[in-house]
Amino acid sequence: MRDKSQLAISAPAKLNLYLHVKGLMHNGYHELETVMQTVSLFDELRIREFAGTEIKLITGNSEGLPPAEENLVVKAAKLLKYHYPRVKTGVEIRLKKNIPPGTGLGGGSSDAAAALKGISKIWGLEMQKPELAELAAELGSDIPFFIYGGAAICRGRGELVEPLPDIQENFICVLALPPIHVSTAEVYSEFDCLTNKSSLVNIAEVVSSLKFGDTKMLGDNLFNNLRQAACNVSTRLAEVEETMDKFFSLSGAYGYNISGSGSAWFGVYSERESALQAVKNFKEQANIPACIVHPVF
Ligand code: C5P
Repeated sequence: MRDKSQLAISAPAKLNLYLHVKGLMHNGYHELETVMQTVSLFDELRIREFAGTEIKLITGNSEGLPPAEENLVVKAAKLLKYHYPRVKTGVEIRLKKNIPPGTGLGGGSSDAAAALKGISKIWGLEMQKPELAELAAELGSDIPFFIYGGAAICRGRGELVEPLPDIQENFICVLALPPIHVSTAEVYSEFDCLTNKSSLVNIAEVVSSLKFGDTKMLGDNLFNNLRQAACNVSTRLAEVEETMDKFFSLSGAYGYNISGSGSAWFGVYSERESALQAVKNFKEQANIPACIVHPVF
């Protein structure tokens, strides 16, 4: 029989294929409309129940991570305990990070969503996705999206998730990961100071491109109006912009952009050979870590 007191769960990264920050709301957050997609770069969590009340986090490589008590995974476990005081056991969470923090790939948020899903299962709470997503929103704007995963349009501060079930994506992405840490809060503050932040955008084109598996259309319509603010906040990110343009364009990407508030860049391809060539060029000619990812559901 399967041991119900422990489980392993993967937490995927996300890409913002479209990110339109509309403006500041009264609650201090920004209203946005975004299309997010989970992709095949994963953090790994192993969760184990034990007698006692402690919530223990064990991380292999903690570089760039907040202290345990501030880690969203621990906050997720504490939030579940708070809402379900009948739970009388503790959990140990082993977290293996593969998604670099501060890159706009949502690693911390995805870890938190995976923790909510995994721990609620271990504690026998039998929670459905809408209920988990409601709790997730208390922890962070992107976390409800990761409860669903796949492709979705997210609105409000990001917490209002409309899953896009009816799609047939077939694109390949190259992730380029310059070792730069960007603060999301700083990028949003910088965004408020920009005078020219609007441009013509059309979310419908992105949604259609996913629905019909049209990679060229997707590449043509990738959009992120946090990009200027992110490059203003991080001069190192601005410095790599030219390199990104060169390597993505030369390798035949249909389009490229940053994810979230950066620092990760991604390009979309339909041919695996072109994507492999791009990865090779980034690594060998620009000394920038890169890998291929694909959509996951
Ligand atoms: O919600 P989360 O904790 O992930 O957000 C991190 C920071 O990003 C917030 O403190 C806020 O400064 C900024 N943010 C925002 N508007 C959003 C999402 C995040 O201003 N919609």
